[in-house]
Amino acid sequence: MSVIPQKVQDAINEQIKNELYSAYIYLAMSAHFESESLTGFASWMRVQAREEVTHGMKLFDYLTDRGGTVALKAIQAPPSKFDSPLGIFQTALKHEQEVTAMIHGLYALAAQEHDYPTQVALNWFVTEQVEEEKTAAEIVAQLEMVADNRTALLLLDREMAGRGKAAAGAGA
Ligand code: FEO
Repeated sequence: MSVIPQKVQDAINEQIKNELYSAYIYLAMSAHFESESLTGFASWMRVQAREEVTHGMKLFDYLTDRGGTVALKAIQAPPSKFDSPLGIFQTALKHEQEVTAMIHGLYALAAQEHDYPTQVALNWFVTEQVEEEKTAAEIVAQLEMVADNRTALLLLDREMAGRGKAAAGAGA
């Protein structure tokens, strides 16, 4: 079992924290949507939070599999005040763009350290971030179309609930 360069291990530990913080942000957004009776958006955010935990655990398992040391870090509190649904998804999109930059930074470090297995493991995350940004951008675009039409917002909320049901059906 090859040893992961220490700098890369440190950066992976940092990214585990970043993924778990993402889960925290989406959970906070889910709670906010629940308080607004937008249960479809709340459910979508809850599924998203679960996904972020699996992202963190992927890195956790990778570090362990390669004989690295998992060093969990403190996770800051997520925001507690939220804007309109459009503002929330704009924040989510911006957050995903930041995560993409983090993943790319981690990939660049692994390349610099000639850590080929980590680069291969990170390919999954590079692809996933394309999907994450695309999904968030689509919802931003849909909410821009909705504007301040409450009926359209409720219809979109119903549609968003579908993700939670699909994930539950798939056992996610
Ligand atoms: Fe784990 Fe949303 O990126």
